[in-house]
Amino acid sequence: MKVVVIIPTYNEKGNIDRLIQILEEEIFSSIKNHEMYILVADDNSPDGTAEVVKKLMEKYKNIELNSGEKKGLGAAYVRAMTYAIETMQADVMFEFDADLSHDPKKIPAFLQKIDEGYDMVIGNRYSDGGSIPQNWPPARKAFSIVANLFVRIVFLRLTIHDWTGGFRALKKEVFLKEKNELEKYNGYIFQISFLHKVVRDGFRIGEVPFSFTDRTLGRSKIAPAGYIFDVLKFVIVTRIKEIIFGKFGKFLVVGGFGFIINAMTLRVLVEYIDWHPAPANLVGAAFAIFSNYNFNNIWTFRERRSRTLGMYLFRMIEFYASSSFGVVVIQTGTIFLGTALLGKEFYFIYFLIGTSFLLLWNFTMYNRVIWRKKSASQVQYCY
Ligand code: GDD
Ligand code: MN
Repeated sequence: MKVVVIIPTYNEKGNIDRLIQILEEEIFSSIKNHEMYILVADDNSPDGTAEVVKKLMEKYKNIELNSGEKKGLGAAYVRAMTYAIETMQADVMFEFDADLSHDPKKIPAFLQKIDEGYDMVIGNRYSDGGSIPQNWPPARKAFSIVANLFVRIVFLRLTIHDWTGGFRALKKEVFLKEKNELEKYNGYIFQISFLHKVVRDGFRIGEVPFSFTDRTLGRSKIAPAGYIFDVLKFVIVTRIKEIIFGKFGKFLVVGGFGFIINAMTLRVLVEYIDWHPAPANLVGAAFAIFSNYNFNNIWTFRERRSRTLGMYLFRMIEFYASSSFGVVVIQTGTIFLGTALLGKEFYFIYFLIGTSFLLLWNFTMYNRVIWRKKSASQVQYCY
């Protein structure tokens, strides 16, 4: 496969020469099963980084330079990855810092994982032997560890240890899939947002532990306060959106709508036609289940919706059957008992109590049975 190691640079004159020598002389020579290339993504560095790269290009034929306007690390990566795929025909790309913070000796281990079938491999500084610099001040260490733990917990993805790092290898398909969504993440937040989308889309992700070392030359371009703010904002906003617009949010909206249908039918039948609240609730619940089933089918679980009339009807019967115990015994039973013991006056209160019991029941069933089995039709049993 054709592998392009992308090195973003902004004022890395002092580092780029040393790094490229190491890659060419010590690392690439030991990799036999891939064609190795370097792409330097420089943003017209005022210190003349590009001039150094041009000299190296005379010596080594596998180096290219992609220059552009400075818009941030993420923007440089999006530009360079596009170039690597379109102009250099890259199959696999690396993200690699110019300042030697990333251990070049680990490159073969990343490629090994790609060969094993992983779509993206990320450098891990937080476990399995990976590390952050010993000489970092305690506050910086703590922030680095806590920030990554925070992302793992909020995203509920504990198996990925290093969300913010910039030592990665990925197949071109991964970038092409996510490219359109990455263009707004110009800065360092690119790293988390890219990985988040890759995880969301179910790509296979592997990890390689490594020891991150501090740069010895030049300065870091990260602005810590702004970066911390960006990380918190991205993680929290993304998660809230996922909950509201995700399955759980839809589930609540559908259930809420069903509840209103149930309550209105109940009231109309009792107040205007003088029905007994228990059978009136059964009719209301039957309408609500019909509404829930159809909205779940066309909206919440759209991608698994019933495609034939037979399947639609079969699943609807299943849905009614699975809802019947809760609706008949728990919800309507509460109304029946309440009105039998205390009279019909406060039937609506018994309805609310019965519905709360029903929710508890459904929630328990959802956790114990449906969540566990996770089959497509069972996930719909939510009333
Ligand atoms: N072209 C370009 N444009 N390159 C940039 C830019 C930019 O705007 N900003 C930074 N770079 C380059 C640097 O020249 C360096 O090669 C690499 O990106 C990393 O930048 P540093 O300034 O050394 O960042 P860092 O060491 O603080 O951050 C590293 O760790 C972070 C996580 O803790 C990087 O690996 C980040 O990607 C990572 O998020
Ligand atoms: Mn650095």
